[in-house]
Amino acid sequence: MYNIAVVTHLLGMAALVGGYLAGQPAVNEVMVWGARAQLITGVVLVGMAESIDSLGKDPNMVKISVKLLVAVLVTAFAEMGRGAAKRGRRVVWMTHAAGALAIVNVLIATLWT
Ligand code: HEM
Repeated sequence: MYNIAVVTHLLGMAALVGGYLAGQPAVNEVMVWGARAQLITGVVLVGMAESIDSLGKDPNMVKISVKLLVAVLVTAFAEMGRGAAKRGRRVVWMTHAAGALAIVNVLIATLWT
């Protein structure tokens, strides 16, 4: 179950970053759902890692807190950018803020050891 949660976390990341690259200069629906998926699957992963001893996981809570903060910002910018795009306005900086912060979270996830 934990590994399936990791798979959905990686697919959410693919939707978020892929949606950003494909949808520029506007935020598209794929990107918004990717951002939402990252928040949900990330919290599920930490919940399982903390509560199931046999997984042998001990997540670094400083790293997780930074990722959570960045992911909340990504989701906020994606939601606001998508809302604006639906009303016919393109807020280009919001697209780039969400996309760049998403890539920052990939870097934190993999390089912060
Ligand atoms: C924009 C949002 C996010 C992105 C792009 C992202 C990206 C990633 C990536 C690429 C990995 C795999 C790292 C590796 O195996 O080396 C990962 C793992 C992980 N992420 Fe995230 N993440 C995001 C948000 C979150 C949030 C909000 C949480 C928790 C509150 C979280 C918790 C975790 C955990 C616990 C793992 C470790 C899974 C494991 O290998 O056991 N992530 N994340």
